[in-house]
Amino acid sequence: MALVRMRNMKGPNNTEIEKKIKRGNALRQGSAWRGYRGLVALLLFALSVCGASTWWYLSSLDRDVTETLVRRGELVSPQPRVFTVECSEDYENYQRYPGCTPQTCGRAVTDGVVTREEAQVLKRLAERGLALAGSEGGASILDLHSGALSMGRQFVNIYRYFGDDIGDVFTKEDFELYRDVRGRIQAVVAETFDLDPSLMYLTKPTFFSRINSTEAQTQHDEYWHPHIDKVTYGSFDYTSLLYLSDYGSDFTGGRFIFMDQNGNRTVEPRAGRVSFFSSGSENLHRVEKVAWGTRYAITVSFTCDPAHAISDPALP
Ligand SMILES: *[C@@H]1O[C@H](CO)[C@@H](O)[C@H](O)[C@H]1NC(C)=O
Ligand SMILES: *[C@@H]1O[C@H](CO)[C@@H](O)[C@H](O)[C@H]1NC(C)=O
Repeated sequence: MALVRMRNMKGPNNTEIEKKIKRGNALRQGSAWRGYRGLVALLLFALSVCGASTWWYLSSLDRDVTETLVRRGELVSPQPRVFTVECSEDYENYQRYPGCTPQTCGRAVTDGVVTREEAQVLKRLAERGLALAGSEGGASILDLHSGALSMGRQFVNIYRYFGDDIGDVFTKEDFELYRDVRGRIQAVVAETFDLDPSLMYLTKPTFFSRINSTEAQTQHDEYWHPHIDKVTYGSFDYTSLLYLSDYGSDFTGGRFIFMDQNGNRTVEPRAGRVSFFSSGSENLHRVEKVAWGTRYAITVSFTCDPAHAISDPALP
């Protein structure tokens, strides 16, 4: 396609050049040197046309491979930006739950559900919690539901390990905001995919993540591999991510990438941005390695199977 365009571009340019040469010959009265200088100029011109079209061809190739679905600087509000994709067959291996099991699949992004101020409060909560321990590698998690917190090369249970002292780290208001935000995320997922919100349930793992550029020490730190949530966790039906920091200013790298057959599509994180999608293989994805800074996010997962439901966290 682009090669055809290049040939078309060359055609008129060649005749243009010929015309110019003819005109040059007719007008030539000066020295042979002046004519030679003219030819050099024409040659340079022809070369730059070729160079420009090659550059244009290569950069259009690059655009085909990676498309940005939502940029950091955009504000998607009040309605989510929705991209539908055909559902995979993954859901057929599980019991169907009318009103919840995906019938329409896709991905969506919204900045209209959680404010930047709320994201800031939740980020501070994550900072305080993760400051209690953290992974030796670049990726740490804190799960307020199960109590799991990365520590060194493994995990501890914050509720058991820190006991009542945990009340000094988190407040009742923190937990209320967390519950409220997860309810709003559930509502927007239900509305977008046309589900009954009372038939979808929070499931595990639902957790905070903190990622920086430190080398992975164990497999738990390797967050960047392409994966399918429904294959990794059979109970997942919808996955959502709430970003708590900004791509480009708090960290670089760390973009979310949907890996489609015909190209990669990225979402640039922004504090308060919620990105959500059906969990089957129609949404194979990965997170780009964080190159600089620290990236905070919350993964909020939903299932249609009541047997896999988990409850909201509560302070002991
Ligand atoms: C990443 O975070 C860990 C834990 O806070 C810290 O020890 C490490 O120095 C950080 N790495 C970089 C590159 O900032
Ligand atoms: C998407 O990106 C991966 C690397 O992350 C690359 O290997 C793959 O070829 C890309 N897909 C397409 C269709 O360009």
